[in-house]
Parts: sequence; structure tokens; C-alpha cells
Amino acid sequence: MGRKNTKKTLLNSMRKRLFLFLCVLPLFFLGGWLTAINPSIFSNGHIIRRDVTILLWYWPFGRSYSLKGDVCWDRYHIPHCRLTDQRSLHHTADVVVFHNRELIKGRQKLPLHLPRPRGQMWVWMSLESPENNGDLRPYANVFNLTMSYRRDADITISYGELQPKETGDRECGVEGGTEAAVPLNKSALVCWVVSNYKAHYRRSKVYNNLNAVVPVTVYGRWIKKWLSSQDLLPTISRCFFYLAFENSISKDYITEKLWRNAYQAGAVPVVLGPSLDFYKAVAPPNSFIHVDEFASVEDLGKYLKQLAEDKESYADYFSWKQHWKVKLHTDWRERLCRICSQYNSLPQQKIYSDLQAWVNATE
Ligand SMILES: *[C@@H]1O[C@H](CO)[C@@H](O)[C@H](O)[C@H]1NC(C)=O
Ligand SMILES: *[C@@H]1O[C@H](CO)[C@@H](O)[C@H](O)[C@H]1NC(C)=O
Repeated sequence: MGRKNTKKTLLNSMRKRLFLFLCVLPLFFLGGWLTAINPSIFSNGHIIRRDVTILLWYWPFGRSYSLKGDVCWDRYHIPHCRLTDQRSLHHTADVVVFHNRELIKGRQKLPLHLPRPRGQMWVWMSLESPENNGDLRPYANVFNLTMSYRRDADITISYGELQPKETGDRECGVEGGTEAAVPLNKSALVCWVVSNYKAHYRRSKVYNNLNAVVPVTVYGRWIKKWLSSQDLLPTISRCFFYLAFENSISKDYITEKLWRNAYQAGAVPVVLGPSLDFYKAVAPPNSFIHVDEFASVEDLGKYLKQLAEDKESYADYFSWKQHWKVKLHTDWRERLCRICSQYNSLPQQKIYSDLQAWVNATE
């Protein structure tokens, strides 16, 4: 067994090298060529291949990460991308990024007193739902670009996503078909983790109606059954279904409740959030159950009860794992480096004259 694994690893590493040589190396040249045809870097007739500089004006939530070395290349293989948090580089930055929360809390200010180099773009960044973005009216006509989970943001950043598995992943991933991917140790039918319970929220109403049909096991601050981060996923994995109900029902807003709490733990998510169509666009069919798929919450409850008793149909909800793997996005550095990958196709001369309206848009 051990030797077989070693052999496999060796084979995989050889494959990886071949992949690097055949696929990644040509990308380098292509990348260089693309940079070379970007007119903004012609100067006095000479081609200067320069880095794009992304300046983060302050760190989100005050938590900083190391930017030592060539972070974007070393960590994410994104070339020609200088990520910095040194404000003294303001005059050389192509893009300056401002995280919304600190602005609306008054903890940080925009450097409106500094001359803004021509061509420099200011980015408004937030992963919060509209109701948690505060009053944005003072920020009209300031930002050139938006960076959020919205698909119509200039730079879309998500809490997570499913990525296709590569051959290598599949080999060492789900063996023995779908059934092997289903956590066996189920002791609760439906679980919900909630810290902030308000009776008038739609999710609270759905929970109450559902709990009248099937038992819902509740955890979280609301009922003082707090789960530590270590206990969260093992606890959810013992549930057949997890209520991945978003705190805010708003356009494109799906958080780690789906990607991490449900998919990674191995419970089938029952989702409440954006429309069914949006979930279909970002998650494989038969990997989640949307509340709106049922005429009533009673019907939903009956369906969950049946499904838990039907081993095969339940296991079908895990077949996506053969082709997809969960990727969580938690590191701001990765998000910021990705701006460089899109830099040449970002809109030019854009101004958000009414950021508040954009953020609150429902269509
Ligand atoms: C199954 O769950 C119980 C508690 O519900 C736990 O004590 C036990 O270790 C679990 N077994 C496995 C194989 O995860
Ligand atoms: C960015 O927005 C500012 C004002 O909001 C504007 O003056 C400037 O021309 C814009 N810059 C780019 C590169 O779009």
C-alpha cells in the first residue's frame, strides 16, 4: 500500500512537471506578449515591461498579512504584480483599494488631499450584504471600480466556489463511488447554526414552520449552544441536512455557510438566499435543496424526511464530489493579486456617481 502510494506520488509529480512545461511555460510567453501589446507601457518607443502596483490603503478588519517577497508570484503564480500596503507608494500605484467597513465606521479616511495620478483607479471593496454596508452617499463620485461578491462588480470576489477536479485529485479523491463520499455517522436530521435570531426574518419563519414538521437541531449563540470553530464541521457532518440560510437575502449573496459549513462538512445544504437560478449558476445540480423549490415549507419537510430514509437518493446529493472540489476564498492577498490578472480588461474611465444605488440594486 505504502509503496503503491509512493509510486503514485512519483508519477503525479512527474505529470505535474510535464504539465508545468507544456501548459504553464507557454502561458508565460503569452503573458509577456500580452503585456507587450498593452499600449500603456510604451514609453519613448521602448517597451517597458512593468509591474502593476496594487496598493491596499489599510487592511480589512485591521488584520494584516505578510507581503514579503513577490507575494502574488510566490503564492498564486500571478506575474508582474506588486502588492503593497505602503502608503508612501501612493504616487506609483495603478490601483488603490479601500475596504468599505473601516470607511463607514470612521476608522479610516480616503486620501482626498493627495494628488491622484492620472490613470490611477480607486477600488471600493466589500463582502458585506447591502444592509451592512452603511450609508454610502458620501462616497458618490469617488470610486472607479467595485470589488464584491456581485457578479456585476468590476472585480468579483466570492466566499468560495467549486472548481473542477483534476485527474490527480480524482485518483486520490473519492474512491469507491459516491457512497464513500457520504459521511456515515448521521445522528440528526436537520441542523441549523444561528447567532442572530430575529422573529421577523424570513429564515426564522421558515425555521419555525419546518421545525413543526421535522426536528431541527439548533446550535449557536441564539440558544447559548455555542460551537467552537473546531467543533463546527464535525457537528454539522452528523446532520443529514444543514440549513444554509443567509442572514441577508440579497442579490448574489452566498457566504461560507454553503461552501464551508455545508459542502465541506458533508451535509446536504438546504438553502435560502438569492434565487434558485443564482444557486444553479454557481453550484452543481443535485448538490443543494432550495427552499423555493417547494410549494410550502411542509412539503420541504416531508421531502427531507423521505430523502434521509432513501440511502441511494440521499447519496446522489454527493455525486458532484466526483467532479468538483470546494475552494474557500479567505485570504485578502489572493483577492488583491487577482486584480492584476484582470488589469488589462478592467473598465477605463469609469466613475461610480451613485455608489449607494449600485450597492442596493436588486436587479
Ligand atoms: C459518531 O458520532 C458520535 C457522536 O454522535 C461520536 O462519538 C463517534 O466518535 C462518531 N464516530 C465516527 C466514526 O465519526
Ligand atoms: C476615477 O475617478 C475619478 C473621480 O471620481 C476621476 O476623476 C478619474 O478620471 C477616474 N480615473 C479613471 C482612471 O477612471
